[in-house]
Amino acid sequence: MYDAIILLAGKGERAKLDYNKAFYILGDKPIYQYSLDLFLSDPRCNNVILVINQLDKDKFGILPDNVITTYGGKTRMESVYCGLSHVTSDYVLIHDAARPNINMDLINNLLIDVYTYNATALAVKVVDAIKEVNLNHIKKTLKRDELIQMQTPQAVKSSIYKEALKKAIDDGVSVYDDMEVVELYTDITPVYTNGSYSNIKVTNKIDFKIMEVIMREKLWWELDIHTIPID
Ligand code: CTP
Ligand code: MG
Repeated sequence: MYDAIILLAGKGERAKLDYNKAFYILGDKPIYQYSLDLFLSDPRCNNVILVINQLDKDKFGILPDNVITTYGGKTRMESVYCGLSHVTSDYVLIHDAARPNINMDLINNLLIDVYTYNATALAVKVVDAIKEVNLNHIKKTLKRDELIQMQTPQAVKSSIYKEALKKAIDDGVSVYDDMEVVELYTDITPVYTNGSYSNIKVTNKIDFKIMEVIMREKLWWELDIHTIPID
């Protein structure tokens, strides 16, 4: 059994809407509602913790009893910390509301891995060449076949993550992703679980259009080309 933390306490500045992108209506419902509905449909999920921005507090209707809302912080990391204090299950899945296109297959695979390895996250292999730069000077080419691109949900054994994230916050460390906290503050080696190239984080304006096409066509699932095998 697990709890799910859905993060929507950001402001969505890069999306350049005049409101939080998590409330953008995609198809027939707001972006955050997709992952909320998925977790609520999963009997293994005890509670969903919605980490929200104070500015958005009046935007929710009546929520089911197993949905807890709490305010987030200034950074994603602080928002995770706010959500974690409400976690009571042995495992926690931390998810960016800005990724509406997750499904139960992905959750199933993630749970198998977190029960075995204690920390895992969805990820896909990098498809572009990635360079390390200094201003506009290219310093180094990284080995593409050793690189992955992290997605959410990220899944961790709750007790381990509560302790690790507290240490990271006390140290003033800044991270973008939960697995980095596990890497830095535990002796666990996190793994990754195959994600999906259509599990896009709506970030810039163009992503709304891309997501609208994906949601309308559901192309990637139907063609079953969204996952890549572990090699
Ligand atoms: N998030 C959060 N609390 C924060 C910052 C981000 O809960 N202080 C959430 C966002 O709401 C989002 C997820 O973390 O669902 C991923 O962050 P990002 O895509 O960066 O969203 P925003 O911070 O809202 O967007 P931007 O960085 O463009 O302002
Ligand atoms: Mg942000």
